[in-house]
Amino acid sequence: MNNHHGGVPELNASALIPTRLSADEPGWTTRADVIVVGSGIAGLTTAIHARQAGKTVLLVTKARVSEGSTQWAQGGIAAALADDDSPEEHLVDTLVAGVGLCDEEAVRILVTQGPPALRQLIALGARFDTDATGAISLTREGGHHHDRIAHAGGDATGAEVSRALVAAVARDAGIELVENALVLDLLLDSTGAAQGVTLHVMGTGQRGGVGAALAPNVVLATGGFGQVFGQTTNPYVSTGDGVALAMRAGADIADLEFVQFHPTVMWLGPLAQGQQPLVSEAVRGEGAFLRDIDGTRFMEAEHPMADLAPRDVVAKAIMRRMRACGSSHVWLDGRHLGADMWISRFPTILESCRTRGIDPVTDLIPVAPAQHYVSGGVRTDHWGRSSIRGLFACGEVACTGVHGANRLASNSLLEGLVFAGRIGEVLAGTEAVVRDPVEGRVGPGLLPHGVRRAMQQTMDEHVGVLRSQSSLELAEGELWPLSTAAGARPCTEDWETTNIHALACVLTRHALLREETRGSHWREDFPERDDTRWQTRLVTSIDENGALHTRTEPIGGPE
Ligand code: SIN
Repeated sequence: MNNHHGGVPELNASALIPTRLSADEPGWTTRADVIVVGSGIAGLTTAIHARQAGKTVLLVTKARVSEGSTQWAQGGIAAALADDDSPEEHLVDTLVAGVGLCDEEAVRILVTQGPPALRQLIALGARFDTDATGAISLTREGGHHHDRIAHAGGDATGAEVSRALVAAVARDAGIELVENALVLDLLLDSTGAAQGVTLHVMGTGQRGGVGAALAPNVVLATGGFGQVFGQTTNPYVSTGDGVALAMRAGADIADLEFVQFHPTVMWLGPLAQGQQPLVSEAVRGEGAFLRDIDGTRFMEAEHPMADLAPRDVVAKAIMRRMRACGSSHVWLDGRHLGADMWISRFPTILESCRTRGIDPVTDLIPVAPAQHYVSGGVRTDHWGRSSIRGLFACGEVACTGVHGANRLASNSLLEGLVFAGRIGEVLAGTEAVVRDPVEGRVGPGLLPHGVRRAMQQTMDEHVGVLRSQSSLELAEGELWPLSTAAGARPCTEDWETTNIHALACVLTRHALLREETRGSHWREDFPERDDTRWQTRLVTSIDENGALHTRTEPIGGPE
């Protein structure tokens, strides 16, 4: 490290992030009032709100419309609906889980606008599980002091939400859907405002290959980037295309060091790669508990909330226990829940276990932490606006500040719902100026997809649950030289690999700079939370040459 930039030491970084992915002239052009990129809960809900605001919408998604993280969500959507609960108590639980780094105003918006947003989702057609009186059934997950998780299909909440929203979007002729469209770069006008995106659409039709979708409002809803790691609960499409695009365009990116590792991901052996099966926290919410490899329960000694402590506490306790026992996993014991509970409440997980030869009614489930969620992303204000005019971000791609250092369980689908509505309100009130985009500045320097596996291994080994200066420096030593690798032929895998690499570099840099342990960021060499130095946000942007600049900012935004 050498000099200082905005209060934090700047790394002596020689590698650059490419500022464009594609140097090709777009072969086709299309226009809309709003472009929404991504088709999970955030993207679909934003598209619906943009239509309510009277806008035409082009909804682009990189695979089929229902692929993405939302459909995999098991637990549910957190909202203070119970008579004995309140948004204020939901706020307190969220702030505690976020370990001093939540933007309190953003959280207040989340918890107060959450219940009406959930009711709107139900009005759109989503069917949530109900009790005998017809009221929405609520369960509990880690860090919540009340039953406030609404769920659907037992443990298939995301699939039901996705089904209902896809159907609502399909009913609206004002939303044009383009599938198999990978977003490449943001197009900016001469004033630096967003004016659209370049896309690569699979196929050879009228809109095949690289084209330009022009609009004065671009909403990124591309989800997270679990594929930065080798083992994740995220699907293959989660390669951080939106965060990387925003970063290339010069937007502020915040909090990338806060990567949440879900405590109970089914352990399939040391060679398992890619998306791993989740075992929802709701299983512990209904009474299951953890045992170490020798069968001893250990969470009661770790936290007053025992097996339902906040997620980072449970993940860390499991890691410590695995280390102490020399084991590669612990056990989740849900045998006492009984067959009826497993069949009615957790049909998806039951099936997922049984196809792997584990019967949770009679067997312990082997589990270990794996990457699950990124709290950081494109820094936005309370209306989903990024630091680039006309560019919005919603859902996991965004850093609204609601999650702080550790997201509270089932607040993520809620965030997508609530902030999509707020972006819709902004869109309704703006007459955006349409200008021609200008040429980007620096050509592409793509990474060949062959380096992806090695990169993920680096991230798993050195930037995972446990981090230290030496592990993070090792990671940088392996990651940075990759950016000087020979240019690759442009294809989806190379573009995605280039995105993953850019995010891995920033994540590692943030993790190295943040010399403390807080929430999901665990430094072995700085084991304490340090409010004097680090009750602050790390924000990175790149300059016109692709050089990274990281600075600290107050939690509520620039002063
Ligand atoms: C889970 O079902 O355990 C995951 C819920 C979440 O990530 O919020």
